[in-house]
Amino acid sequence: MSENILVAVAWPYANSRLHLGHVAGAYLPADIFARYHRLKGDHVIMVSGSDMHGTPVTIRAEAEGKTPLEVADHYHRLFLEDFEKLGIAWDLFTTTHTKNHEQVSQDIFVRLLEKGYIYKKSVSQPWCEKCRRFLPDRYVEGTCPLCKSSGARGDQCEACGKPMNPAELTDAHCRTCGTPPVYKDSEHFFLKLEAFEKPLLDWIKDKAWWRTNVQNFTTRYLEEGLHDRAITRDIEWGVPLPLEGYSGKRIYVWFEAVIGYLSASMEWARCSGNPEAWKHFWDGEAKGYYFIGKDNIPFHTIIWPAMLMGYGGLNLPYDVPANEFLTIESQKFSKSRNLAVWAHDYLSRYAADPLRYLLSINMPETSDTDFSWREFVRRNNDELVATYGNLVQRVLTFTWRNFDGAVPPSGELDQASVELLDKARDTLDMVDKLLYRCRFRDAIKSAMALAQEANKYLDDKAPWKAIKTDRAAAATSLYAAIAVITALKTVLSPFMPSSSQKVHEYLGLAGKVEDGGWRLDLPEAGRRLMEPQVLFTKLDESVIEEETARMGLGK
Ligand code: MF3
Ligand code: ZN
Repeated sequence: MSENILVAVAWPYANSRLHLGHVAGAYLPADIFARYHRLKGDHVIMVSGSDMHGTPVTIRAEAEGKTPLEVADHYHRLFLEDFEKLGIAWDLFTTTHTKNHEQVSQDIFVRLLEKGYIYKKSVSQPWCEKCRRFLPDRYVEGTCPLCKSSGARGDQCEACGKPMNPAELTDAHCRTCGTPPVYKDSEHFFLKLEAFEKPLLDWIKDKAWWRTNVQNFTTRYLEEGLHDRAITRDIEWGVPLPLEGYSGKRIYVWFEAVIGYLSASMEWARCSGNPEAWKHFWDGEAKGYYFIGKDNIPFHTIIWPAMLMGYGGLNLPYDVPANEFLTIESQKFSKSRNLAVWAHDYLSRYAADPLRYLLSINMPETSDTDFSWREFVRRNNDELVATYGNLVQRVLTFTWRNFDGAVPPSGELDQASVELLDKARDTLDMVDKLLYRCRFRDAIKSAMALAQEANKYLDDKAPWKAIKTDRAAAATSLYAAIAVITALKTVLSPFMPSSSQKVHEYLGLAGKVEDGGWRLDLPEAGRRLMEPQVLFTKLDESVIEEETARMGLGK
């Protein structure tokens, strides 16, 4: 029976470009998962968009002398370009700055207000006398009371990671003009999180399929006790409050960004021609999977579920397979220290699939993992080129030349050949089970083990020798190898869609690899193949030094 799967992916702030941490953390696993479910014939929508509001964008705009909208539009366009080149196949990648999103956000705000889950309260806020305005947390800077580094922000110290209140900073001052802030009362709206503590504890109790880190983090957070949170800010960039008299305030960026999952589903439905279609992904048996980085966990396992409980009638997340972080050359990502690999920069020199491969087999699923250029070159050369690429190449090229460019006829299969085909079917099963549970690393490892097995089989059968004495035996082993390649292009296609499409075509199959379904259709003897081309390119070792030098890490 086919399932309805919502693949909801973290909304990137439209203030900077995508780097490998974003790709490994959320976009790649989401894309693998969505492609896998589409192949299985499930109904899938994969949605997200640019997170355009809030101080991350206004601060960037001020630094560049542009309007927040100019900055957000600029990065949004670049996101779309990068996703296209990476092969991230969205059903919709929109933005939080649409009329639709504004309406849906305001509707949720009003409903929660009417139900008493949102209330008004006066709070003391930092105010800059010189700028004549309230200062959002990120606009107050000072010295971190914990690690003593200067330039700590009022929401967090970037140096030591301490979450901050502006009032905790030593020498707090306005980041725009340097004036120390005074405190003034301001009226704000609060989400009554306390009311959801018990229901949330009950809700997560039976989520045995959640990743341990997500489960533990959420339980600890809840056991420490929930506190109501302000969900409005004194800022002029964002979704306006749906109430008279608050023109200087906006809905807090986090409160409305998570609503994006719902508003984007609605926008997708409208574009698809059936405005009601979003409901199939938000009620009944539909399952919502939220792909995010670990820093976003509380927003997806506590705040968004609380908002949904308060609103009523919509599915809560089924799973939140949050990833850990990707370090670069064993160091923490840092834009200022140039310790980053930007997706567009990578793509200007290399293909997407080798990166997708490395980030899949080394995905930070259960602990942080490291990206290094050395490993990139090694895995590309030893695994993609020497194992998978070589298998495809030698089988299809030899068949092309010696069997008139068509699938050779299979004689009776011997023990080894039967075992190989069984292994191919088992691999389809195994990868299916693993991907179903969001275990990406093990899934791709299991696929690659099949490629290895097939290479061993071929070394043993050596059809290039056998053809001289026993053409039928050579034909049979090539046939079995072609069957394995058929299974491989299927199980690998969620991970490496573009090379899988090529193999699909070399095998003489029409249409798209994703139309093939999650099964092994044995090749028919006599089917015309297509002349195979090189699938992966070997990289010179010098790439390692070149690329590390580019990051200032050379010897
Ligand atoms: N923009 C946030 C970030 O980059 C993530 C938002 S995820 C959402 O950390 F769910 F809130 F949209
Ligand atoms: Zn100021």
